[in-house]
Amino acid sequence: MNAPKVSVLLQSNWAEAGLVTDVRRGLGSQPRTLPPKWLYDEAGSRLFDEITRLPEYYPTEAERTILRDAAADIAATSRATTVVELGSGTSDKTRLLLDAFADVGRLDRFVPVDVSEEFLRQAADLLAARYPDTSVEAVVGDFTLHLGHLTRYQHKLVVFLGGTIGNLYVEERGAFLGALADSMDAGDELLLGTDLVKDADRLITAYDDPGGVTEAFVKNSLRVLNRELDADFDLDAYSYVPFWDRRMQRMDLRLRAEMPQHVSIPGADLELDLASGEEIRVEISTKFTEDRLRAELQAVGLEITRTWTDPTDSFAVTLARKST
Ligand code: AVJ
Repeated sequence: MNAPKVSVLLQSNWAEAGLVTDVRRGLGSQPRTLPPKWLYDEAGSRLFDEITRLPEYYPTEAERTILRDAAADIAATSRATTVVELGSGTSDKTRLLLDAFADVGRLDRFVPVDVSEEFLRQAADLLAARYPDTSVEAVVGDFTLHLGHLTRYQHKLVVFLGGTIGNLYVEERGAFLGALADSMDAGDELLLGTDLVKDADRLITAYDDPGGVTEAFVKNSLRVLNRELDADFDLDAYSYVPFWDRRMQRMDLRLRAEMPQHVSIPGADLELDLASGEEIRVEISTKFTEDRLRAELQAVGLEITRTWTDPTDSFAVTLARKST
């Protein structure tokens, strides 16, 4: 049996310490922001899962279609024998890719990386059973902190799906891609899923479903603060404001205080006074063009090998290789 190996790189106080730092930095100054990684507690993960099944939210199915249609091509084009997945969750869509690598006998190792140890252990067990000839080496880690760990794997393909890279601000994205490229040898590859720039109406609909699932997901961030930091946000006092920022080419998801709010956040030693109409930005979701992606990858020494899109050109999966 190929029992999965699990390495834990996250310190046990990762969430507590990180949340306090982010809340002080993001909510304590203007414009007020909260990093999206705190949206994914248990309730938030469940709500996001529900979002991926909404008819309005096209990215998940578009990416799945691409992987289904292109997995064999990707495996044939790639030279990797180790597949690393960042933010792997249950590696649900990734299995399409792993199957294709296993079919051509080139899946020596799979390294799923995720912050949720529980999810990861479950996924690792399932994957080890599904790919008996593959060594499954799971890493409990934060992909913004622990990319250095990846230098030990050679001939690797790093997979980062879901359009999650669009959550990062442009400077964060540059830093992330730079650190990722640093963890790669010449010839190592990246497979990146990105949502594409499109019609504003279609974008807004995808982030403002009539059933209010996305609103509940975004508002859950305040619930996380109430629970983890003993804050007293009144969730009913905020309305959900999603909009398309054309200049920055990103969806901007905010909560707006509809009346003046005094908020205590004892766990972060913070008192906030929000004016009526004041907004907190909870998440951005950047949309890409092929040119922009090419330029950002090139800036860190990654050359695009090939791009696959779905039949509606909504979403892209890009294979890039680190140049010598
Ligand atoms: C998981 C970050 C890719 O940006 O589309 C979906 C998160 N937020 N609806 C996205 C999200 C609101 C999603 N990502």
